[in-house]
Amino acid sequence: AAMPADPTDPFVLVRGEIDAVSERIRRDVVSEIPALARAAEYFLRVGAEGKRVRPSMLLLLSSALSPVPPSPEDLIVDPRPPSAPTPEVRRRQQRIAEITEVMHVASLLHDDVIDGSATRRGQKSLNVAVGNKLAILAGDFLLARASVSLAALREAEVIMLMSQVLEHLVSGEIMQMTSAPEDLMRMDHYKMKTYRKTAAMMSNSAKSAAILGGHSREVINLASDFGRHLGMAFQVVDDILDFTASSDMLGKPALNDLKSGIATAPVLFAAEDFPALAPLICRKFQDVGDIEEALRMVENSSGIQRARELAKHHACQAADAVSAPV
Ligand code: FPP
Ligand code: MG
Ligand code: MG
Repeated sequence: AAMPADPTDPFVLVRGEIDAVSERIRRDVVSEIPALARAAEYFLRVGAEGKRVRPSMLLLLSSALSPVPPSPEDLIVDPRPPSAPTPEVRRRQQRIAEITEVMHVASLLHDDVIDGSATRRGQKSLNVAVGNKLAILAGDFLLARASVSLAALREAEVIMLMSQVLEHLVSGEIMQMTSAPEDLMRMDHYKMKTYRKTAAMMSNSAKSAAILGGHSREVINLASDFGRHLGMAFQVVDDILDFTASSDMLGKPALNDLKSGIATAPVLFAAEDFPALAPLICRKFQDVGDIEEALRMVENSSGIQRARELAKHHACQAADAVSAPV
């Protein structure tokens, strides 16, 4: 039997609205070219949408910022469509949720090509299903669709913020790909890369939702802080899970970062306990036995624990941002 919905689960609070957002995304990425339509909707189909963390976060934040407290009826999970039409402001915040998710999926399509990944969200990656060329073009198509939706909002600052998200994704990816060996050891380098690859999207989309909500500068900046800290916490946890979770649980290969030569927070903290890790990090775990050796040192160090503390620090900062009296 299905588990009853937990009314304190934040994802449950916005599930109905998120399903509507997902449906709109699917309608928005259709193309008259069948192969392109199939490729573009590959990770947007029902059942392949992933956790939809970003759109859920944005709608929950939009509700939290709303000057009108939700009525008790609003908090009950109601499968029927709402009778009252969605107010215009909320609709525009939903658009940001859609644009953010589409940009995110586009970056995943390109990422799986770059990383040569075979699985994503528990299924074949698009590059494996249709080949690299079509997967890249499907990503480009999604970016193009997101750009059109973004321009339609006619809000210059939001267009700039969401365009900067793309800039940060690309520069973060290139930073990861081309960093000098001595930079790979540096925690500030890791944090900068993490900001660009993950936190900038959450920060700028949260800021955009606040702008569209018509909030004060102070609230807009707090929304940006919230998204940035949540994004940092989210990515550090993702980096921990790369060590502690199974491939089945992740829906993508485990120990993927080490195998890709990438040192994340658990490894960088472990290197403070075991200086012998440094040369392995700098040569990107390329020598025979490096991955096993690095894994052993991480497991015997305080690396995972300290990474958890870092994630917790950012999670608390995010909570502080939305609890600040304004
Ligand atoms: C996942 O990282 C990938 C990203 C967060 C962004 C990747 C960005 C690009 C490929 C640049 C192109 C960007 C656009 C906007 C098309 P990961 O490989 O560390 O994580 P994974 O385990 O989920 O693959
Ligand atoms: Mg990847
Ligand atoms: Mg990658």
